[in-house]
Amino acid sequence: MTDDMIKQVAQAIADSHNVVAFTGAGISVESGIPAFRGGQGLWDKYDPIEYAHINSFLHDPEKVWQMLKEMDDYIQKAKPNVAHNFLSYLEKKNHLKGVITQNVDNLHQRAGSQKVIEFHGNSNRLRCLSCGRVFSRDKISLEEIPPRCTCKSRLVKPDVVFFGEPIPSAAHEEALELARQCEIMIVIGTSALVAPASTIPYLAKHSGAIVIEINLEPTSLTKTISDFFLQGSAVEVTSLLWKEMDNIDHKE
Ligand code: OAD
Repeated sequence: MTDDMIKQVAQAIADSHNVVAFTGAGISVESGIPAFRGGQGLWDKYDPIEYAHINSFLHDPEKVWQMLKEMDDYIQKAKPNVAHNFLSYLEKKNHLKGVITQNVDNLHQRAGSQKVIEFHGNSNRLRCLSCGRVFSRDKISLEEIPPRCTCKSRLVKPDVVFFGEPIPSAAHEEALELARQCEIMIVIGTSALVAPASTIPYLAKHSGAIVIEINLEPTSLTKTISDFFLQGSAVEVTSLLWKEMDNIDHKE
């Protein structure tokens, strides 16, 4: 990543009113939430088939809730970082049309982003699998797991997409629409290994968008569709872009 690349990317964003961001777990790592893959990821500790498939949840909710509780602890302690704030700033400045996120941690919303497409749901909501009642996370105690609905009969599940479950259709359609029509897609902190989310950057690219990828490491997108690969942490790279955009603003 060179200074010149940062300048070019910042200028391209500053010139556009049609940027869309696509984010994954890597954007929240510097907020204290571990990613899923790569060394210290959640899936290195928990087998995703055993813990993140809907059938596993239905079969042994107590066991799966142990893992969910650990994730919840990280999420409750986390605060948005510079990268989340940068995307919220870009929306306020009318450069960014929306964020499509695979994350369920609610950090984009807490950073002030208005248009957030929750591709995999949001763990801040929980849903009773029997009566369908939706609870805000702060209305549910995790002292005893698995938590139960007040209807007492059935289980409460975080309103997130487990393996084996479909993507919520409104979120899926909105994400496809944003990807099809954007001029620039900024992809931050995703391994792009989980479909159908992983198809989003390809759709943007094939619809004519410039793809800017920010990641600590190259991914399958890097050599195939990324026009710019800004290697570094989400906070480090977005701080540089933000500074450069401020310079552009002051010149104009
Ligand atoms: P992964 O854990 O698969 O990938 C995280 C990516 O972030 C990797 O490419 C890392 O190199 C990168 N990364 C880590 N720290 C970073 C940092 N500080 N700055 C920038 N990049 C960093 O996470 P996702 O791609 O989001 O699905 O995973 C996709 C889906 O798999 C998740 O939404 C989840 C999981 O199973 C469901 O829960 C349905």
